[in-house]
Amino acid sequence: MMHPEYRPRRLRRNENLRALVRETTLSASSLVYPLFVMPGKKKREEISSMPGVFRLSVDQLAAEAKECRQLGVNSLILFGLPEKKDRVGSGAHAPDGIIQRAIKEIKNKVPEITVITDVCLCEYTSHGHCGIIHHKEVDNDATLEVLARTALSHAQAGADMVAPSDMMDGRVGEIRATLDENNFDQVAIMSYAVKYASAFYGPFRDAADCAPQEGDRRGYQMDPANAREALREATLDVEEGADILMVKPAMAYLDIIRMLRDEFDHPTAAYQVSGEYAMLKAAAARGWLDEERVMAESLLSIRRAGADIILTYFAKQMAKLL
Ligand code: PBG
Repeated sequence: MMHPEYRPRRLRRNENLRALVRETTLSASSLVYPLFVMPGKKKREEISSMPGVFRLSVDQLAAEAKECRQLGVNSLILFGLPEKKDRVGSGAHAPDGIIQRAIKEIKNKVPEITVITDVCLCEYTSHGHCGIIHHKEVDNDATLEVLARTALSHAQAGADMVAPSDMMDGRVGEIRATLDENNFDQVAIMSYAVKYASAFYGPFRDAADCAPQEGDRRGYQMDPANAREALREATLDVEEGADILMVKPAMAYLDIIRMLRDEFDHPTAAYQVSGEYAMLKAAAARGWLDEERVMAESLLSIRRAGADIILTYFAKQMAKLL
């Protein structure tokens, strides 16, 4: 009878040994929790396609931020639902806009927490596109100025980091220059460097009411078929001054996360998006999957692929287990 010479099972015999040789770990401090901020008072509305995720009015934010801190989740990313929308997304950079108020509230009450803001126009435009429309097309260069104003207004309100998610060409450079000219050279940019035109954003678009009224986002977000193009996008953002490179979505793009990790020495982030969360929650609700285990396994796989930072709606739930 043949005996195997090397037996990998020796190191899997109990949890101590498995922990000793574990290559990848999860920690609450590398998770970023997304918050949806809505107008009104004492509002806490659960998003139907994202069980456990709520739209919160500004007065609810401090309590939420404190809870995150207690769980060891030290970073938030904010998305806003403005009172009203218009064709040019004015609400995105209004000094008293929903996000500007949200940043001030959190920074006043829970200053230790890192506040990151999503910089995009789609939640603020009546047509739902991520930029200014001229002649039926999203006008890249006209949009840059509005994005830079938006990022600046977030910095002025106290944001620690801005995260442009619009996919206009040249926006990282434009935002960096505007921040620097206004003495916000310490405000970091986490660029949604590689953002695919994905169907996994469905629940988010309900949550933030930002689905395009006409057409789709394939004219600016990336084609899911492309990998080499991800390197070009990331290279441009590095040259323009991005501090952190993000890949989005995460689970269907683990190869892209690995590629950025190998090619760049910048910190890499990945966004486990609304559809990824909804999918796991829905299957778990039917008893088809073990919720805690698929949550942990999905997040671990994103880390193993090379993400230093994970933006996830599971942040609080995962942190409770860590
Ligand atoms: C804004 C933005 C979107 C998401 C993050 N920022 C929506 C989109 O591009 O359609 C998606 C996040 C998620 O699905 O969880 N442009």
